[in-house]
Amino acid sequence: MTSDPDVFSAEFREDPYPFYEALRRENPVYREPRYGGYVLTRFDDVLAALIDPETFSSAQGPGPAPSANLNPPAALPATDPPHHDQLRALVNRAFTPRRVAASEPRIEAIARELLAEMPTGELDLVPSLSIPLPVVVIAEMLGVEPERLSDFRRWSDAFVGLLESEPTPELTACAMELVGYFKELAEKRRRDPKDDLVSALLQAEIDGRRLTPAELDGFFIVLLVAGNETTTNLISNQLHILSQRPDLWKRLRDDRSLVPLAIEETVRFDTPVQNLGRQTTRDVVVRGTRIPKDSRVIVSYGAANRDPEAFAAAGEYRPERAEKKHLGFGQGVHFCLGVGLARLEGRIALNALLDRYATLEPGETAPTRLQSTVIRGFGSLPLRMD
Ligand code: HEM
Repeated sequence: MTSDPDVFSAEFREDPYPFYEALRRENPVYREPRYGGYVLTRFDDVLAALIDPETFSSAQGPGPAPSANLNPPAALPATDPPHHDQLRALVNRAFTPRRVAASEPRIEAIARELLAEMPTGELDLVPSLSIPLPVVVIAEMLGVEPERLSDFRRWSDAFVGLLESEPTPELTACAMELVGYFKELAEKRRRDPKDDLVSALLQAEIDGRRLTPAELDGFFIVLLVAGNETTTNLISNQLHILSQRPDLWKRLRDDRSLVPLAIEETVRFDTPVQNLGRQTTRDVVVRGTRIPKDSRVIVSYGAANRDPEAFAAAGEYRPERAEKKHLGFGQGVHFCLGVGLARLEGRIALNALLDRYATLEPGETAPTRLQSTVIRGFGSLPLRMD
């Protein structure tokens, strides 16, 4: 396997793991000749970069590509401390573990409603469950009107597109529509607050400081992008793995205490967020390689999570493994804000499927992969469930 891969190629996106393995072994601080960035693949190096935002800055946006465009005004993933910490503290006032826990019965009901529409036999899991569950959940938490749900999906897709490519007129139009809609919703809640996340964000205050309108817009966008695409593919990747492990499907049906462990192992073994980016603020030496100031650095969570130095039998899916400290939810100041919600949605979705279906197998039609360097998951995932 080549150790100088094009990390933006279709081949890499299809199955990055053999490339990661070669890079970790032979070229752990990989100077990408085509785009000029550096790729970190070892667990310790990725972790060290994530916990050093002074050197590895997020201020140029979190995308891996040199043309990272997901840079909404003052959004959490695109800021460094101390500004980041102020923003995050404010957002934490509204997006609380209590609010997430309180949404559990509603998430269960949404999952049940979606499953009630699903037939037995072969079906594509992506449009039936993986996509709608997180979209409906986050929309309801925010306080979005049900009739705007399909727009939500479109807007969120457009923003993930912007993360990886130059803006097209269509993507930009989507972004404008989304921002317009959120402004409208925020205005409604400013006049007439309700018990939803938008109202809580508007009211959040620390030492007399509140989120500015631009910060609020930025956060809405981030919630859509960071919360939907990710959880969608957590559900898909989880089911894809289990469709090849009938033994594990049966064990999970019999012993539901394994469900949270399986979710966590999926975020280690085949994480939906494979690669993001940082920008160096000074010259820095990693494993003897000098990375100059102002370089783009790709931090590969997907590669770090399979590092044999950090995980025994790293290439095997083992829910009961002893090492729990994977990097699938990031680490340091940008550690995933939605981790509690992601775990809850993953657990509810998997339990609902285990309740309903005795067996799970790959479908006759082959699944299709997403064409993304950031997000790993499926465009379609036909499965046979009986
Ligand atoms: C399996 C599902 C998920 C995965 C794998 C995931 C992964 C990640 C990762 C790797 C980061 C760190 C980004 C960085 O280092 O720059 C992150 C940050 C973030 N995530 Fe998640 N995420 C998931 C679900 C969610 C959900 C459901 C939400 C919210 C509804 C969410 C909201 C966020 C936000 C707001 C940040 C930025 C935090 C900050 O910059 O301070 N995520 N996530």
